Amino acid sequence: MFYLCISIFIPNTLEKETIYILAIESSCDDTSAAVLKNDIVLSNVVASQKIHEEYGGVVPELASRAHQQNIVPVVNQALAKANIDKKQLSAIAFTRGPGLMGSLLVGTSFAKSLALGLDIPLIEVNHMQAHILAHFITDETMTRPGFPFLALTISGGHTQIVKVTDYFEMEILGQTLDDAVGEAFDKSAKILGLPYPGGPLIDKYAKIGDPLRFEFPKPKMKELDFSFSGLKTSILYFIQKQTKENPDFIEENLEDICASIQYTIVNILMDKIKKAVKITGIKEVAIGGGVSANSGIRNAMQEASKTLGWNVYIPKFEYCTDNAGMIGIVGYLKFKKEDFTGQDITAKARYVIP
Ligand code: KG4
Ligand code: ZN
Repeated sequence: MFYLCISIFIPNTLEKETIYILAIESSCDDTSAAVLKNDIVLSNVVASQKIHEEYGGVVPELASRAHQQNIVPVVNQALAKANIDKKQLSAIAFTRGPGLMGSLLVGTSFAKSLALGLDIPLIEVNHMQAHILAHFITDETMTRPGFPFLALTISGGHTQIVKVTDYFEMEILGQTLDDAVGEAFDKSAKILGLPYPGGPLIDKYAKIGDPLRFEFPKPKMKELDFSFSGLKTSILYFIQKQTKENPDFIEENLEDICASIQYTIVNILMDKIKKAVKITGIKEVAIGGGVSANSGIRNAMQEASKTLGWNVYIPKFEYCTDNAGMIGIVGYLKFKKEDFTGQDITAKARYVIP
């Protein structure tokens, strides 16, 4: 009798503790859906929109149209890959902002309707908070930072240094006042005639170039804020001047130009994060966002870890770029706090980390 009770009791408890979250991300030009079993990502499907390549940057109207086309197949694929039926879902998490309004509206409306149809809780997620909490996805290739830590979020849309004292206790210490660092890479690449997104190409050519061949000015920004628009302008003027004298200047010096641009950008980032470590005394440093794929920043972070005694955390690349897995981990953490939202929620293009 005793054994019978145990065998009934334990599975029921476990069953109750398993939370399945469907997460949706549509803030910019990637339509993504993920299914999480607690803090483990079972599936993370991303449909990237190739349409923007020919325009040299994201076109908001085209992005929202593509989200409309992609959202249903992407969600179905995420459920199928995870081998989870809609009826098993515990909640729907979605990106409320920040991002492009038309893009956010697609994910927000879809998430609201599905949660209503399935009669399960709805969880709103701040995209920037998600980039940071992506470090808490359980994955054998990743180590979690300890609190408090500094998060450097670097991507095509963001550049921020955030002090993280707990999952939902974050303070923005610095951020870009104009272009994001990924834009600095992409716009520099465009000046050099490289296709969008040019960041990975600059990285590729930089590997075989001389980083000290050309010197570009670093902005003099107060405290921990960033600015990249001046760098872009100085690169434009430099290239215009050089190509006037030698029309083959770019072709003949591409590797050195890319290496010099990358060296300048990495130095700007490292100067600020070093300053943040000095001000806060926190040596746990986590980076995220698409630009954390850059070999220059990765090497500089590894170097700082060796010479300055930092603990450096870089998530798996799949969780660095925009993806719904990171939205799902926030969904899971909020589900545990029963932090749900009502059907009256609206998308928020400008949404600062709460
Ligand atoms: O996080 P992400 O996929 O999307 C945004 O939220 O923007 O980041 C994309 C950005 C682009 O600007 C792209 O050029 C940049 O990340 N990026 C890189 C590298 N890989 C991606 N920038 C420099 N070096 C790379 N290896
Ligand atoms: Zn992002």
